[in-house]
Amino acid sequence: MSASTEIRTLTPPDIVGRKNGTPIVCLTAYTTPMARLVDRHCDVVLVGDSVGMVLHGLPSTLGVTLDMMILHGKAVRRGVERALIVVDMPFGSYEEGPEQAFRNAARIMAETGCAAVKLEGGKTMAETIRFLTGRGIPAMAHVGLTPQSVNVFGGYKVQGRGHDADRILQDAVAVAEAGAFSVVLEKVAEPLARRIAKKIGIPTIGIGASAACDGQILVVDDMLGMFSAFRPKFVKRYAELGDRMDAAIAAYADDVRERRFPGPDHVFGDVPKAVKGGTAA
Ligand code: KIV
Repeated sequence: MSASTEIRTLTPPDIVGRKNGTPIVCLTAYTTPMARLVDRHCDVVLVGDSVGMVLHGLPSTLGVTLDMMILHGKAVRRGVERALIVVDMPFGSYEEGPEQAFRNAARIMAETGCAAVKLEGGKTMAETIRFLTGRGIPAMAHVGLTPQSVNVFGGYKVQGRGHDADRILQDAVAVAEAGAFSVVLEKVAEPLARRIAKKIGIPTIGIGASAACDGQILVVDDMLGMFSAFRPKFVKRYAELGDRMDAAIAAYADDVRERRFPGPDHVFGDVPKAVKGGTAA
C-alpha cells in the first residue's frame, strides 16, 4: 500500500475537533463482518453492552461481563481500519472507584486494541473519568437514560423533563470538566439536549436526544430491523432485514422439504436426468 492510500484511524482528539463541525456518525457493532460494513461509513464504532440484549438474548445489559466485551471488542477490531473504536465498560466493572475502573479499562484496551472506553454516569463518575484520562485512557461519558441503572429509574424513561433537567445538565457539565472526550445523551428531552449541546465544550452524541447534538448513534441491529424485542421511538428503521431474513430462511426450509435444494448446481459430479427433473426418489 502506498503512503497516499494509507487509511488514518480516527483518534479521540479528532472527535473533539468535530465539536460544532460536521456531524459525527456513530453506530454499534459486535462482530467482524458488521464492523467492516459500519467502518466504511462511520466515524465511531461502539462495541456497546447492548450486545447482551441484541446478540445474547439477555433481558437487560446488567448480565454483560468484561470477558464478553473483550471478545466482541477483539472481533470488531479485526474489521475496522478508519473509525475510532470505543468499548463499553460493563455493569460492575467500574463503579467501585477509579482504581477498579482503570484496571478493567486498561485490560479492555490492551486485549482489544480499542482506543477508548465508554462508561455510564454523570457527576458520580467525574472523579473516575478524571483518573482514567489522566492515565492514558480516553473516556466517552454517557448521561441521561443510562440503561445499566434501569432498576433505579424504574424503566427506560425519557430523562430531563421538568425539574430533572438541572440534574442532567450538571451531569453533562461534570463529565466535560472531568476530561471526557465526548458524551452520549440518551433519551434526553429535546430542548434540554439542545441546551447541553450548546453549553458544553465536548461533542455530544445523541440517541433519542436532538438533531442539535454534534453526532448521532443508534444500535445497528435496531436501524436495520434485525432486533425487534424493543422498538423505541428514537429508532429510525432504514431497512427491515429481519423480515427479509425470515423470508429467506422460510424459502430454504421449503426447498429442503420439497427436495428442491440442493439442485444440480450445488452438488459435485453428474446428477442422473430423472433426478434433475425432480422425479427420482
Ligand atoms: O450499549 C449501547 O449500544 C449504547 C448505545 C445505545 C449508546 O450504549
